[in-house]
Amino acid sequence: MIPDRTPVGRGVYHATAEVAKGAHVPNFQKYKELYLQSIQNPEEFWGKIAKEYYWKTPNTGSFLDYNFDVTKGNIYIKWLEGATTNLCYNVLDRNVNEKKLGDKIAYYWEGNEPGDCMQVTYKGLLQQVCKFANVLRAQGVKKGDRISIYMPMMIELVVAMLACARIGVIHSIVFAGFSSESLCERILDSHCSILITADGFFRGDKFVNLKQIADEALRKCRERNYTVGKCIVAKHLGLTEDTLIDEASTCPQSPAAKRSCYNLQAPWNADVDIWWHELMKDASDECEPEWCDAEDPLFILYTSGSTGKPKGVQHTVGGYLLYTATTFKYVFDYKPDDVYWCTADIGWITGHSYLAYGPLANGATSVMFEGLPTYPCVSRFWEIIDKYKVTTFYTAPTAIRLLMKYGEEPVKRFSRESLKILGTVGEPINPEAWLWYYNVVGNRRCPIMDTFWQTETGGHMMTPLPAAIPLKPGSATFPFFGVVPAILNESGEELEGEAEGYLVFKRPWPSIMRTLYGNHERFESTYFKKFPGYFVTGDGCRRDGDGYYWITGRIDDMLNVSGHLLSTAEVESALLEDAAVAEAAVVSHPHPVKGECLYCFVTLRDGHEFTKTLVAELKAKVREKIGPIATPDYIQNAPGLPKTRSGKIMRRVLRHIARNERDLGDTSTLADETVIEELFSNRCRTL
Ligand code: WT7
Repeated sequence: MIPDRTPVGRGVYHATAEVAKGAHVPNFQKYKELYLQSIQNPEEFWGKIAKEYYWKTPNTGSFLDYNFDVTKGNIYIKWLEGATTNLCYNVLDRNVNEKKLGDKIAYYWEGNEPGDCMQVTYKGLLQQVCKFANVLRAQGVKKGDRISIYMPMMIELVVAMLACARIGVIHSIVFAGFSSESLCERILDSHCSILITADGFFRGDKFVNLKQIADEALRKCRERNYTVGKCIVAKHLGLTEDTLIDEASTCPQSPAAKRSCYNLQAPWNADVDIWWHELMKDASDECEPEWCDAEDPLFILYTSGSTGKPKGVQHTVGGYLLYTATTFKYVFDYKPDDVYWCTADIGWITGHSYLAYGPLANGATSVMFEGLPTYPCVSRFWEIIDKYKVTTFYTAPTAIRLLMKYGEEPVKRFSRESLKILGTVGEPINPEAWLWYYNVVGNRRCPIMDTFWQTETGGHMMTPLPAAIPLKPGSATFPFFGVVPAILNESGEELEGEAEGYLVFKRPWPSIMRTLYGNHERFESTYFKKFPGYFVTGDGCRRDGDGYYWITGRIDDMLNVSGHLLSTAEVESALLEDAAVAEAAVVSHPHPVKGECLYCFVTLRDGHEFTKTLVAELKAKVREKIGPIATPDYIQNAPGLPKTRSGKIMRRVLRHIARNERDLGDTSTLADETVIEELFSNRCRTL
């Protein structure tokens, strides 16, 4: 329960008077009042918010209809079913025509190279989106079709996703750091008819030949009897006029950006490949939106699943709009003059919800950054904050820990005086990193919004609000409006007061996922089976004496590397593809920057030797199969693995060995004790 009085005491951080001035939710009492309204009368609460958006036809049937209990039938969730709208219309046309924000900057785009920048207004974005929506329609796609988008952080990525939303096409964005195999797997799972990609890009010093990887993915699809009809290629290299999205507003001091010296470095297949800019040349900039049901699918986004096969999380138009727009407004206490910067890539849910849809729905100005926090120097973030006078900065604990290593000087070189609110997401933030973020980056003026949520939840679930909720470093504090958390014990009983256990949610919020694409059964069994009647997050959680929630991390076979989930199973199956590997077991190991990293145990087949070359080969294999984020930090030779008598690998024991912890806990089910000593003596030297 939420306490009656504002929490106070040692280690509790309160908002400054400046933050509280004019805040949407000025104090704890107001938060509690709004929270109770949202719980006691969701229809009234969300209905009022829905009125701020455009509906072609209003909702007439039930406002919310759902079943969360597998024992009573199929799981379903429906918000505002029967109402029709269009998400793209709401985030663009509505802002341009009704709110008169046409000339407002939607995005300041900042490239990998300092000074390589451009900007696009709401009007400019609407125009590009309409043109590209017409391009897609001319390619024959229609409502309900799926399109894969595999692009770097360029404005055309936002254009492509919004164009899909405009014509009712379901976008499936695949992070441009994923491998050809991962892209292929995702295209096949969702049967995408078109792939949209780019020629290539730079990540820091490193050139990524994206078109070549995309080609490989399409070849792999064909080998598995699936052909993608068209591949639309946006030109990001070679700074020609065609690449400029909003020519008139291009940064005046446009430098000789590195990307301008490069051109396409992959073969061109005229049967399949088409240049984005050629298609756009003659496209009309008027495009009637497709009016969609609130419950029509908006997008699919893949996330790792504990079986190793990625899950296509499906979100819908109406609820997702309401929830991302509302969380953005309250959690970042959004004001019209703010300049907001979320450093996440659009290829992840954070980018979908809080770089694209949420900010755009509010008519906000955002920074979109293509580059890295450490390139060309470790001050890059702070330099960009000063350059655009960023007020609201949202990043990941892993980035904070990375930058902390370089000390305060690179931060203090820049004023950061525009900053008002800070945010983090992706994994639990350790108090040390929290305090550095608060004291050094925010000069003790800026509250930190530690937002707990998931790809599956679509938007923030547990989060502070800047002026209303006092902070405790490392706690995601309290539930957002409409969210009803509970902590369960192993037998599924709800725990009251101070407690630790499984974090679950008791009823639907508007942006909860509706299904896993093409696999409703897996949706039900993953999220609703363990504890009937609840949505199960897979995270552990503790509630303290003041009612604050502390996320303790995953309690399934998932790892969180730099804020991104990976499953042990998918890494193991990549390792097992190597002819030398007979058995593999992967566990997480703490990492000072990434949070967690991968520690792999491999048992070799007879006749193979454990050499440095093999280790390098295995690391490359995982990287190639899944992508660079999955690259293992440690691979250890394991002539034998600890197993139960029934043959199950005891990953819990391996986790202790990886960490060099001699206390293994209960080992009574272990079939063969002798493997343990050998594993300890073969340990990799870890950080
Ligand atoms: C998992 C979801 C939501 C966008 C980024 C990741 C962990 C996320 C926090 C936080 C503690 C967090 C959880 C969650 N997580 N935010 N503020 N505090 N843990 O999306 O890949 O779907 O991962 O990230 O373990 O289940 P995702």
